[in-house]
Amino acid sequence: MTPSLSTAAQRLSAISNHVIAKNLTNSTNPRGDFGLIGLAVMGQNLILNAADHGYTVVAYNRTTSKVDHFIANEAKGKSIIGVHSVKSLVANLKRPRKIMLLVKAGDAVDNFIGQLLPFLDKGDIIIDGGNSHFPDSNRRFEELKEKGILFVGTGVSGGEEGARTGPSLMPGGNEAAWPEIKAIFQDIAAKSDGEPCCDWVGDAGAGHYVKMVHNGIEYGDMQLICEAYDVMKRVGKFTDKEIADVFAKWNNGVLDSFLIEITRDILKFDDPTDGEPVVEKILDTAGQKGTGKWTAINALDLGVPVTLIGEAVFARCLSALKAERVKASKILEGPEVGAESPIKDKQKFIDDLEQALYASKIISYAQGFMLMNQAAKDYGWKLNNAGIALMWRGGCIIRSVFLKEITSAYRENPELDNLLFHPFFKDAITKAQSGWRSAIGQAIANGIPTPAFSTALAFYDGLRSSKLPANLLQAQRDYFGAHTFQVLPGKENDFLPKDQWVHVNWTGRGGNVSASNYDA
Ligand code: 2AM
Repeated sequence: MTPSLSTAAQRLSAISNHVIAKNLTNSTNPRGDFGLIGLAVMGQNLILNAADHGYTVVAYNRTTSKVDHFIANEAKGKSIIGVHSVKSLVANLKRPRKIMLLVKAGDAVDNFIGQLLPFLDKGDIIIDGGNSHFPDSNRRFEELKEKGILFVGTGVSGGEEGARTGPSLMPGGNEAAWPEIKAIFQDIAAKSDGEPCCDWVGDAGAGHYVKMVHNGIEYGDMQLICEAYDVMKRVGKFTDKEIADVFAKWNNGVLDSFLIEITRDILKFDDPTDGEPVVEKILDTAGQKGTGKWTAINALDLGVPVTLIGEAVFARCLSALKAERVKASKILEGPEVGAESPIKDKQKFIDDLEQALYASKIISYAQGFMLMNQAAKDYGWKLNNAGIALMWRGGCIIRSVFLKEITSAYRENPELDNLLFHPFFKDAITKAQSGWRSAIGQAIANGIPTPAFSTALAFYDGLRSSKLPANLLQAQRDYFGAHTFQVLPGKENDFLPKDQWVHVNWTGRGGNVSASNYDA
């Protein structure tokens, strides 16, 4: 039954639907190279980007009035075909069909996959470019594989502007899809030194996994910059303009990056009504959408000490406790910096902070790659580390000159155990070390929190400790819970046998209670 078209708007919409369908749908000889569902700004910009690169894109959106508006305005005169149904979208695409979903993560993705399936053939490709959580992408990869459909989950970073001019793209999933989508993905992606910031990441949900870690690292980078700003402001007593100048200078050195650049600009941006910096009028409670938290949770699940991202997430949580902090600021005591800065040598102070930021950033990326290496092992993926660093080099929020060195390190040695073992990063951190320690010392002495700087240093010192106090911890666990322990090699004897899990009667008068073979 045809529903009655009661309003003029509905009738008009039906007419325009008809016109679009008549003019633009040609199922016998499809022209479309690429289909895209989801016409929010990101989706529209990605379509325009692809059209600029010579691709014919078929566009669809749940609310079809957005299709009409897009076709009549932004897409006018470009090789973009608007359609009003999923069926029509598929009919307008060359085979194998390549269809990207850029819709809200969650049910909407599954719904669209369900809607598409009846019209697709084996070998067709569904690409999810939304902010999906990687376990969902793992599931979709398997479900679609069974049906002969190639699933790709891709990270897309760079925001609305990046989508238009060149995003960082991190595709993973069914590798059979890669030769089919490689050209368009690499054409529309950002370029860094002429190389596309897009390569195949790995299997199943690996693309969305790597995007998740990217976002976690972004949390860390942002927190590090905020700590440098806070120390300059509260210990150095710098004005926002002076801090902006420091960031501007840093942006010409090893810290050259998008986030440092925008921080410089933010600090220079004044409220036109009174000339005061806008940033100082923003409520200091951080929001979060959850990808940093996903990274931290995954790090805990996999047992990888990704401490800097964890601290960055917790720092946002602490910032959100504004009322409690205001109350605590009146009750809890600590060092107070007076009106005058205690810093005598301002240049050294700034240089130390730069080193602290640089060294901590190296630690954060080393931790991020440790996490991805563990994920590759646990999930059975083969991850392309050099490619990942290359993908993050341009287009995305964490883009920086620094990532060039990471790309080179992994190109030189794809099996590198730890980024910190590469001579470039080992030397960089060795040189940065004394400034890093001084900067944290200054912050601690003056009562300014630097959780990310500090946790990075604690991790570094922990990693280079061949012996940690976990011996005592194991004894405590054995004392109260009979959890048993292993004996340090070389210290075995009749009481503490070799190659055994030992439990000692800590409250009795000697004699181990039990010992069992490792493989028992
Ligand atoms: P809409 O324009 O019809 O709301 C970003 O929100 C994109 O995701 C938009 O294209 C939006 O479509 C789409 N979207 C959000 N939730 C959706 C859902 N439940 N089903 C289909 N599309 C959805």
